[in-house]
Amino acid sequence: MGTQTQTVYLNGEFMPLEEARIPVLDRGFIFGDGVYEVVPVYSRYPFRLEQHLRRLQNSLDAIRLANPMTLAQWARLARRIIGLNPWKDQSVYLQVTRGVARRDHAFPGKTVPTVFMMSNPLTPPARKLITGGVACITATDNRWLRCDIKSTSLLGNVLMRQRSAERGCLETIMFRDGFLSEASASNVFVVHGKVISAPPNNHLVLPGTTNDVVMELAAKARIPLKQREISEDEVRNADEIWVTSATKEVLAVTRLDGKPVGNGKPGPIYKRMYRLYQDYKRTVMRRG
Ligand code: PDD
Repeated sequence: MGTQTQTVYLNGEFMPLEEARIPVLDRGFIFGDGVYEVVPVYSRYPFRLEQHLRRLQNSLDAIRLANPMTLAQWARLARRIIGLNPWKDQSVYLQVTRGVARRDHAFPGKTVPTVFMMSNPLTPPARKLITGGVACITATDNRWLRCDIKSTSLLGNVLMRQRSAERGCLETIMFRDGFLSEASASNVFVVHGKVISAPPNNHLVLPGTTNDVVMELAAKARIPLKQREISEDEVRNADEIWVTSATKEVLAVTRLDGKPVGNGKPGPIYKRMYRLYQDYKRTVMRRG
């Protein structure tokens, strides 16, 4: 990061990251009682911001925490943070917790939610990963049953991601009861022949914003895509596997548990989707 100052927002104020402090009794710290979003920013344009803010609202509703701001206020704040930080491409992180209260599991009577927003430089995936694909491992999904909430309680995801990190892999792809759910910090698509499949959006997966873009682009390009339960066998025998997230965009998985996926190279449908994704990014950025 060098000597450039990173400016963050905390509870109504902008300040250098080093000066941001929260009390130790913040329920985010004590219980992981909060929700978050990660918004990619290209050339200072926040990509799919409205969709991220809508998902934030859904997460807040699910944990029964009133949204401390309107959609317009969130959007204004995001634009301020983007403007106050030095990079063209950024990833904006925002978090809302249930605030500071004496430790008790039940909701406190009256607290002010903690609102934090920061931005980091966004580096798109290296060329090598786009052209050569990435390696992933698999594991049994042992997380809770509300994976649709983008909660800061990420211990399950952290432990899953660490397994892949220790094996030099990008992600851990998970199966619950023999069916594909998602990866530790990404959604997953598979391709058989010319057909793309994705797990249904239910309580077992986060409804990914990148996932939505891919589904919209597939529909527009008339590439068949089905949302359905996908068995572990179908994943292991897929011609292509992709992982998607706001920071990874769309990456082809070319090795799964040490074995090649398809012919071990990013497949033709992936290449097409990657191009569609980049074109779409350029179009929305031009529109502003
Ligand atoms: N994670 N599933 C999980 C468990 C995730 O953590 C994420 C993203 C996704 C993809 O969602 P989206 O396309 O909206 O980024 C799916 C973010 C990037 C993170 O925690 O850093």
